[in-house]
Amino acid sequence: MGIEHCKLITLQKIQDRRGNLTYIEGGRQVPFEIKRVYYLYDVPGGAERGGHAHKELHQLIIAMSGSFDVVLKDGAIEQRIHLNRSYFGLYICPMIWRELDNFSSGSVCLVLASNLYDEADYYRDFDQFVSVVGKKP
Ligand code: TYD
Repeated sequence: MGIEHCKLITLQKIQDRRGNLTYIEGGRQVPFEIKRVYYLYDVPGGAERGGHAHKELHQLIIAMSGSFDVVLKDGAIEQRIHLNRSYFGLYICPMIWRELDNFSSGSVCLVLASNLYDEADYYRDFDQFVSVVGKKP
């Protein structure tokens, strides 16, 4: 899988005068079963998160509140995606380096993941990641 498999998924928005509702079902709106959910919040201005790639993990990233940028790198290509709507999810396939920055004040980043936390699934060194994917920046 490559960076071309990463995509913005438009989730169903059920509009109602009482407020909007969006749902996510593993294997339906997202192309993997959901085994873990985590979220980033109280992110200080100017902070950067991420800075790693996963060997096997699939993820969907949603700006539940506020906004932030996700930078995707496959070693050769780089893409910056601005997330600011809770009905858009950014699907990231395995073996893609990601960095998150430009967090607005009060933003919340929700992440759905295909597996439980496993440090052995991470590449945390960009040069090592690039040498494994075999693509040159
Ligand atoms: P990390 O993956 O480095 O966060 P980010 O993607 O924002 O850079 O995780 C930060 C710390 O939290 C690290 O010590 C691992 C721990 N952690 C868990 O214990 N469980 C989890 O599900 C996640 C995502 C992180």
